[in-house]
This record gives sequence, structure tokens and C-alpha cells, in this order.
Amino acid sequence: MTPQMTVPINPPVDETIAQAAAALKGGFLVGMPTETVYGLAGDATSDVAVARIFAAKGRPRFNPLIIHVADADEAAALAEVSPRAAALMARFWPGPLTLVLPRRADCPISLLASAGLDTVALRCPDHAVARALIRAAGRPLAAPSANPSGRLSPTCAADVAEAFTRDQVALVIDGGAAPVGVESTIVGLFGDGAVMLRPGGLPRAAIETVTGPLQDAGHADADAPQSPGRLLSHYAPRLPVRLNATSVAPDEALLGFGGSLPAGALVSLNLSPAGDLAEAAAHLFAMLRQLDRSGAKGIAVMPIPGDGLGEAIRDRLGRAAAPRGAAA
Ligand code: TXA
Ligand code: MG
Repeated sequence: MTPQMTVPINPPVDETIAQAAAALKGGFLVGMPTETVYGLAGDATSDVAVARIFAAKGRPRFNPLIIHVADADEAAALAEVSPRAAALMARFWPGPLTLVLPRRADCPISLLASAGLDTVALRCPDHAVARALIRAAGRPLAAPSANPSGRLSPTCAADVAEAFTRDQVALVIDGGAAPVGVESTIVGLFGDGAVMLRPGGLPRAAIETVTGPLQDAGHADADAPQSPGRLLSHYAPRLPVRLNATSVAPDEALLGFGGSLPAGALVSLNLSPAGDLAEAAAHLFAMLRQLDRSGAKGIAVMPIPGDGLGEAIRDRLGRAAAPRGAAA
């Protein structure tokens, strides 16, 4: 890559926000920090900008994008907000919860961004830079995770800059390490049902205090019309991943969790020595990236408990370990 093709990483100051907002208004893309992972942001009302997102990610066209808004009022201009949706927004926004809602008849979001569906996925990020950028751009922003399709999600600005070229992404705003570390939880509200479409940074139990028990979408997402495009093999490091490892081979890298790690790995990292699932989520993608570059033959991952953020961590690890190209 020639130096002038490198994506600039700019500090999160007013001048950068203005520069990024101008790029977005021109239909160009910006690397945007959020509390979950970095997003590849573009004007959600522009078919051209949305097409650029798909092209840069190499993403299958049937996979719709999450639309980022600055607050619940902006969401109400885009989607039909039921009392239950309003209750979820009041309780959890801004934060790592995406709601899939019916599009309003006058919804200005590019149909390409919702892949032709009559629903739209909305999220209000809990990150000062993201919200300042949405406000400065003056329009909702489509922003999938800023990684090439099928690869690990980015949790720092450098991850984004190294994955794209300058003709794909105008600049990345440096918002530091993403504090949550896994993508938002996606809940679909269809009729009376509330469906867990993707476990993520907001634990199931918190959402269920508002909705009651969530229905499961099942894992064969490519077949399920309400959650298109969630390929089973996703979030994949280059190395093969072995789950629930209680011992490790000398040519393996170990991704540990908790107080006692099996000895003998080529290299070991610990998601959380204290066994804290929030800390483990924040470290997950960065540590997988580091182990992927370690020269090991594969990555062995210790068992992770399934409560709280453990559901999202297990989901991402399951996808990282799935046979590559698996669609169901
Ligand atoms: O934390 C996050 O949500 C990050 C940050 C950048 O905000 N964004 C993110 O976006 O993960 P993305 O585009 O990578 O995730 C898209 C997911 C896919 O699983 C897609 O199927 C689902 O959102 N989705 C989007 N629109 C949908 C819709 N109308 N119905 C059902 N699922 C939808
Ligand atoms: Mg993604």
C-alpha cells in the first residue's frame, strides 16, 4: 500500500468532526468509534453512500445495515415506534441495543440499506463522538462494523485504518478502545413478539425485564427472513478455532478465561483473569487478532460461562470456530 493510500486517523476534536461530517454529506465513508465496535459510517439516506459501504466491506447484498440515530425522536421519524419499543429506548438508549422496527411509510432511509425489507434496524450509540458525528452530519448514519465481511470486528482506530484504503474510507476518528467490545444486541419487535436476533453488548436478562421472555431466531439466519445475512461463519480469524479447550497443544495459541490456565501453549492471553464477562467481551476481538498473528497453528479457547455477556461472547466464538463459508 502506498503512503498516500493510507486512511488517516484523526483525534476526536471539533475540526475532525466537521471534516468527517462534510465527507459524509458528500457520500463518502468515515470510520466511527462507538461503545461496541468501530463502525464504517455512511449517509443512510444515500443509495450511493450505502453502496460504497457494501463495496468496501465486500458484504453480501442481502445483509441489511444498522442505522444510527442521535436519540429516540430521530428514531420516531424513521420507524413505527410502538409503546414497547418506546419503553426499550427510554430504558436502554443510548446503549448497545438495536431495535428492528417497521419502516414508516415516509422513511427516508435507502432501501438498499435495509436490503429491501419493510423493517429498519435502529440504534442510538452511547459514545460522545458517534453522537456528535450523527448530529453534525444532520442525518442518520448506516454503520456496519468496520471490518471486511466475515472478519473480526475492529475495536480500535488502527484496526479500521489497516483494513481499508483511502479511496474507500475518508478518515477514521480515534475514539480510543471500544469499551464494550462486542456488537449491539439486536431485538426484533414484530406484532406481539420480541425476538432475539443477535446476542450482543446488552445482556438478554436486562432486555427481558421490559419485554418478558425473548423468542429465539435460531442460528440458521440465512434462511430466516427476519434476520438475513447472519452467516454462521463470521467474525473469523485466519487460524482455525477450537472451543471449550481444557488443555492445549504446544503449537496452539491459548485464549484463556479465569484464574487458572492450562500450561504449554505457544502463546497465551487471558480474556479476564478475574472471570469478569464484561472485561472478557472488551478484550475478545483484540486478543483474537493478536493470537491470529502469533505464528501458532490454531487458537484454543477455554470454556466461557453463558450468563450475561457470555451469550454474546459464545455466539461470536461459535462463528469464529464454524467451518468457513458455512451458511447455516
Ligand atoms: O454494535 C453494532 O451494532 C455495530 C456498531 C458499529 O454500531 N454495528 C453492527 O452493524 O454490528 P452490522 O451492520 O455489522 O450488523 C448488521 C446486523 C446483521 O446481522 C443484520 O442482519 C441485522 O443487523 N439487521 C439489520 N437490519 C435488519 C432488519 N431490517 N431486519 C433484521 N435484521 C437486520
Ligand atoms: Mg459485523
